[in-house]
Amino acid sequence: MALIDWNPKKMSVGVEALDNDHRKLIEILNNLHDVVRNRRDRETIGQALHALASYADYHFECEERLLKLSRYPGLAAHREIHEALRVRVAKIGEDWRRSPDSVVTAEIFDFLSDWLLRHILGEDMKYKAHLAPRGAARPEG
Ligand SMILES: [Fe+2]
Ligand SMILES: [Fe+2]
Repeated sequence: MALIDWNPKKMSVGVEALDNDHRKLIEILNNLHDVVRNRRDRETIGQALHALASYADYHFECEERLLKLSRYPGLAAHREIHEALRVRVAKIGEDWRRSPDSVVTAEIFDFLSDWLLRHILGEDMKYKAHLAPRGAARPEG
């Protein structure tokens, strides 16, 4: 069972490329949840953590670029929140690598699912009204 289900009605920010990224992030998070819950080997869990960190990096960069291009007034604040998330995810990866058994996995998932959902539903949703009517929604146009 997936930890989080993508829900376009609730989660769409009105820009297809970013919705696709968010869907992918949720998929990666669900996979991480799966491999930890099934107590997969260390390497598999490490890869899943790495996948989340690197995709989050990629996505935050894309999102920031679009927000910058569209002169989103809340960009600086949004960028700071991304940075805090990046640091937190990197820290979880480091802690886990250093000492896999000491990391309480339930806490990790509470945190990861919480921030991801809260970020998409809260912070990302704030730019919806700004970004969606602009060119970003139709990059080919
Ligand atoms: Fe964001
Ligand atoms: Fe986002």
